[in-house]
Amino acid sequence: MPIPVIIDCDPGHDDVFALWLAAGHPALDLVAVTTVGGNVPLEHTTRNARIALSVAGVTGVPVAAGAARPLVRPLQTAEWIHGENGLGGPELPEPTVPLDPRSATELIADALTASAEPVAIIATGPITNVAILLRDRPELAGRIREIVWMGGSTERGNATPYAEFNALVDPEALDLVVRSGVRFTMVGLNVTHLALVTSGVREQIASLGTATADFGAELFDFFCRMNDEVFGMPDGPLHDPVAVAVLADPGCVEVRRTRLDVELLGIETAGATSVDLDGMLGREPNAWVAVGLDVDRFWAGVAASVARLA
Ligand code: BDR
Ligand code: CA
Repeated sequence: MPIPVIIDCDPGHDDVFALWLAAGHPALDLVAVTTVGGNVPLEHTTRNARIALSVAGVTGVPVAAGAARPLVRPLQTAEWIHGENGLGGPELPEPTVPLDPRSATELIADALTASAEPVAIIATGPITNVAILLRDRPELAGRIREIVWMGGSTERGNATPYAEFNALVDPEALDLVVRSGVRFTMVGLNVTHLALVTSGVREQIASLGTATADFGAELFDFFCRMNDEVFGMPDGPLHDPVAVAVLADPGCVEVRRTRLDVELLGIETAGATSVDLDGMLGREPNAWVAVGLDVDRFWAGVAASVARLA
């Protein structure tokens, strides 16, 4: 039986591939998509999620807009990687997938309640919507199978020296979710920096020759150009689908049970994730953290899923 999953995202080039991996993978049943302000403001991330599904011919999955800003901090965006509209590169079509009138948290609550079995939430942006759900509807926590989040790092950051972007944008939300008691897996930069869009990967996708693959190849080109300009990484790291792979193909991502704490007070270090892999603090483990990735197996899964789409 495929695992029912909700993707909460802020597309974003790599979020689009996360949506496609979830929609095209036989091990997953994508039941809802929700959006959050992150890479670009909410209006763009919501439209981009609808475009991603429209291009791929994914119909019947509701898409609802969520939080426009983090729980307590002002929104920080990342046009410097994703472009002004969040999906720099291809010409963007009008989305045919409609916008669901419910809020993200209403849609997630409805999906959790309607499902016969617990639903997994995969978050690939600032984790504000999930925090709001757990804060306002704690009785639904037991219906969440687990939460897998792309963000953080066991090492250094990419938005500040010590903070990864999704963690930096809403660390209070992350802290709330990690403390909620729901099974939580962090998929950070230490593994997503292995998921590099090499020329071989670009060719693997482009050679599929489908509309989805063509759109994806154009996304790759812009994304890699920006990663080269900003980080000196011409093979851009495609972060977000690695979080989907944790559920779609568990053997592909190695995880460890450990202690995860979030820096909320630091002036220079806010949003840093403290991952106590060596047990120095003597605190109870409270999370799973990704520590390894089978790179070829990951890309084979992404390509096979894209191939199943339009
Ligand atoms: C994360 O930040 C965003 O720019 C990407 O979409 C990804 O979710 C990587 O730090
Ligand atoms: Ca993202």
